[in-house]
Amino acid sequence: MGILKWMLPLCLVLAACKASSNYDPDFEPAPEQVKADWPMTKQRCSQCHTLDRVFLQMELQNDKGDVEWMVEDMASRRGSKIKSDEVPRIVNVLDWHRTR
Ligand code: HEC
Repeated sequence: MGILKWMLPLCLVLAACKASSNYDPDFEPAPEQVKADWPMTKQRCSQCHTLDRVFLQMELQNDKGDVEWMVEDMASRRGSKIKSDEVPRIVNVLDWHRTR
């Protein structure tokens, strides 16, 4: 029972993820938590603009504080679907990508 509740959405998310992004190969070596939160990050951060923009900007960030500031800024935009408990998870994903 418990496991099924987790497995189905996870499979759907992984399948969708595999099918749709150019950036996924980058995340192959990522820690489990980063991999797990990547589809959510992708969904949240492509709501208002493309992900390419996020990644371009990411290369320019100097430290994790900059990434945090940016994600918080985006989370506070009108209509943003980013929840406050997702902010640190998104920051971890983007910060991992930045320092890979
Ligand atoms: C509610 C809409 C919305 C969401 C969700 C959103 N953004 Fe944005 N983002 C914008 C808008 C609008 C702009 C362009 C205007 C601006 O830069 O102020 C922008 C611009 C950016 C830029 C360029 C900033 C610059 O200085 O050029 C980056 C990087 C960025 N977003 C990253 C992200 C990340 C990372 C996420 C996910 C955590 C995200 N965005 C989610 C609305 C959003």
